[in-house]
Amino acid sequence: MAAHVVLYLYIYSLIFFSIFKQKKKKKKKKKGMAGSFAGSVGIGLPCSTKLSHTTTSRSFRFSRVKMAVTLDEKKKFTLKKSEEAFNAAKELMPGGVNSPVRAFKSVGGQPIIIDSVKGSHMWDIDGNEYVDYVGSWGPAIIGHADDEVLAALAETMKKGTSFGAPCLLENVLAEMVISAVPSIEMVRFVNSGTEACMGVLRLARAFTGKEKLIKFEGCYHGHADPFLVKAGSGVATLGLPDSPGVPKAATYETLTAPFNDISAVESIFNANKGEIAAIILEPVVGNSGFIAPKPDFLNAIRKLTKENDALLIFDEVMTGFRLSYGGAQEYFGITPDLTTLGKIIGGGLPVGAYGGRREIMEMVAPAGPMYQAGTLSGNPLAMTAGIHTLKRLKEPGTYEYLDKITSELVEGLVAAGKKAGHAICGGYINGMFGFFFTDGPVYNFEDAKKSDTAKFGRFYRGMLEQGVYFAPSQFEAGFTSLAHTSEDIQHTIAAAEKVFKQI
Ligand SMILES: Cc1ncc(COP(=O)(O)O)c(C=O)c1O
Repeated sequence: MAAHVVLYLYIYSLIFFSIFKQKKKKKKKKKGMAGSFAGSVGIGLPCSTKLSHTTTSRSFRFSRVKMAVTLDEKKKFTLKKSEEAFNAAKELMPGGVNSPVRAFKSVGGQPIIIDSVKGSHMWDIDGNEYVDYVGSWGPAIIGHADDEVLAALAETMKKGTSFGAPCLLENVLAEMVISAVPSIEMVRFVNSGTEACMGVLRLARAFTGKEKLIKFEGCYHGHADPFLVKAGSGVATLGLPDSPGVPKAATYETLTAPFNDISAVESIFNANKGEIAAIILEPVVGNSGFIAPKPDFLNAIRKLTKENDALLIFDEVMTGFRLSYGGAQEYFGITPDLTTLGKIIGGGLPVGAYGGRREIMEMVAPAGPMYQAGTLSGNPLAMTAGIHTLKRLKEPGTYEYLDKITSELVEGLVAAGKKAGHAICGGYINGMFGFFFTDGPVYNFEDAKKSDTAKFGRFYRGMLEQGVYFAPSQFEAGFTSLAHTSEDIQHTIAAAEKVFKQI
């Protein structure tokens, strides 16, 4: 009898301990998921089960993230927490955001509040997972939160976060940029694309001694006063007129023409003989949706600027290191006088840059008299993330991979849309793409505006529910990355096939 009691006690204690151990394990796992992200450098994702790191046959490496669930297994989509957070945000910040397009005004519905990103994926605070085609609006070309970039940042951070004095990392990134971008012989780092465009305009005016500027309708060059004339991006998305608060005097010298219309540019030159300092343009427009230049447009612009003693500025904040390692200018074989950069060269940290021919850049203070400065310019963390991002992009096969993955995406989306009976057209170059709900062709902003934006809104919200995050506007380009996989693309196309039937 006693032996039986001892045996029962022994068995019960075994069962009790195994249950206790399991509970403890679960608790530990939960704790790790919730707590690992805050301030984590090199740790990566809260939910490491979603990761599958693969080494491809190519020589470049990156984090590939598998969708945690397939379309059919998807749990109920809810944005309850995002909604609560956004309602609170609206009381704290204008429109609840720190940059207008993020508020989803043009697509309707509820913006998602992001919790974390990794590779080609992101997660919102309700736990929904998305394949991301925004890539932080361009910088994430090697994938979000890349392990090597995070590790390099952690090393740099040990030495401090800002020096406000020269550092070696500035030389390294400057050399990389100069050797990559055909037009750049000298470069000045700043903190955003807006700043880069402000600086480059002042420089063009200082160098030429002229004041007038030609820009194109639907092109966006940041939010500085002289560029807020028929601008793209948020201005186009929200259908805003030229912004209040911009003095007439600030835009008086800004002249505009439709993109891809060379005779309109000729007319402006003829009407303003000897007065045009520069033409600035996005060589491939991304801020009215994706619009490629007609075959001879950039060539003709280059010729006209030379004939009229005006400078040609390529705003490559978006296209730099995205269309090819040397940007749009390398891709199209047209060398401007000056170039602006941003996004990718900061690898996800705030950065911008402008550069060009040495004789022009030597006008910039303190080498020359044109004043421009910045407390955080050349910041060691931004330089580090930029250096490691460019290093990866320089590896062989990267742009071929981007081309492969983007063509699969755009061709699949357009085919699925057409099959479902929609008017749709799309385009892409390597890691940049776009599609419009119109038959096309789309050569300029007027053409882009023919797109059915209400339908885009319905498509957008449908795709969000299926775990696909596009830019929340018909008038913004999309971006792929080295971390996007064929599986991501197939997931996206399958989702689109479903949504196209519903809209
Ligand atoms: C072509 C172009 N230029 C300038 C800018 C402004 O850059 P930022 O938002 O970093 O000020 C952008 C931003 O999207 C852009 O796409």
